[in-house]
Amino acid sequence: MPKLVVVTRSGEESTVEGDEGLAVMEIIRDNGFDELLALCGGCCSCATCHVHVDPAFAELLPPMSEDENDLLDSSDHRDARSRLSCQIPFSDELDGLRVTIAQED
Ligand code: FES
Repeated sequence: MPKLVVVTRSGEESTVEGDEGLAVMEIIRDNGFDELLALCGGCCSCATCHVHVDPAFAELLPPMSEDENDLLDSSDHRDARSRLSCQIPFSDELDGLRVTIAQED
């Protein structure tokens, strides 16, 4: 099973495994990282699943939709590595992906 490295807001790093096809948000949430609220459940309308993604994986990620881009614009913590984790399907290709949970807005 591919591995996902999750870094919390306080900088604590953990490695978890995730099923291919799940959203990165679901893997983070299902492994008990409560600080990732994911309030809308993955329908791209809340931006509380905001993460910063390791740039080494940037080219493997699906392109950002207009909705995701607009939602990220509402965050004070957006940077070039920002994505909504509910919009990233996990896969073997992304094995070792490292994401940092964004600070709360
Ligand atoms: S869970 Fe709401 S936008 Fe991702």
